[in-house]
Amino acid sequence: MTNLVILTGAGISAESGISTFRDDGGLWAKHRIEDVATPEGFARDPELVVNFYNERRAQAASVAPNTAHKALANLEAQHQGDLLLVTQNVDDLHERGGNPHVLHMHGALNSALCASCDHRWPAPMRMLVADSCPNCSAPMARPDIVWFGEMPYQMDRIERALSKADIFVAIGTSGNVYPAAGFVEMASHYGAHTIELNLEPSAVVSQFDETRFGKASETVPQWVSEILNK
Ligand code: OAD
Repeated sequence: MTNLVILTGAGISAESGISTFRDDGGLWAKHRIEDVATPEGFARDPELVVNFYNERRAQAASVAPNTAHKALANLEAQHQGDLLLVTQNVDDLHERGGNPHVLHMHGALNSALCASCDHRWPAPMRMLVADSCPNCSAPMARPDIVWFGEMPYQMDRIERALSKADIFVAIGTSGNVYPAAGFVEMASHYGAHTIELNLEPSAVVSQFDETRFGKASETVPQWVSEILNK
C-alpha cells in the first residue's frame, strides 16, 4: 500500500476563480502583506484586515470546486493506503469537492478565532471587528488565518505523515512560503518520491524527482488516474 501526502496551494483553486497570491494581478500585487496578513497589521487596523478576509470569504462562497479538487476527492475515496491532504488554502473548495479530511495548515475562512481564549467557532459570512467570543465574551474575534510570523497548524502531524510517505506531491504552489516550501526536502529526506504539479516551475522545483507543468484541472485528474490504476 502506498502512503501519500498531498500539498495544495492557490493554483488548485485558480481555475475555480479564486485569485492566487503571486501571479500577475495576484492578491499580493493589490494588498500589502504587512497590512492584511500579519498580527501587527491586525493590531494597527483590524477593520481593514477583517474586511479583507470578508471579501475572500464572499469570493470563495461564490465559486465552485473544479475537476482538480474532485479528482483528489475521488483519490481519497478509493485509495487503499494512508493519505494526508494538506492545503495552504483558506477556502473550502476541497471539502465542497468531496474531501472530508483536509488539514488547513494556514487556517480557514469559515472559522473565527478568539485572540483572547483561542476558542474557535464558525465564522459568519461578514465578520465585524466588534464581534465577541461566544466562549469568553472578549471582543477579540479574528479570522482563523495563520498570518506571517505565526506558526502554521498541525506541523507535528504533517511531519509524521511526511516521514511515512511513499509519494509526496505538491500542487499549484509557488514554493515561496515556508515551512510548506520545505516539505519536498523533508519528504525526500525520508525517502519519498516527490512530484510537482504546477503551471510553472516553483521556487523549489529542482528538489523534486518528477515535474509536470500544466493546469491543475488537467494534470491532477491525470496523475490521480495513474495512481488509482497502478
Ligand atoms: P502563490 O500565489 O504563491 O502561487 C500559486 C502557484 O499556482 C504558482 O506557482 C502558479 O504558477 C500556480 N498556478 C496558477 N494557476 C494554476 C493552475 N490553473 N493550475 C496549476 N497551478 C497554477 O500561492 P501559494 O503558493 O499557495 O499564505 O502561496 C502560499 C502562501 O502564500 C499562501 O497560503 C498565503 C500566501 O501568502 C498566507 O497568507 C499565510
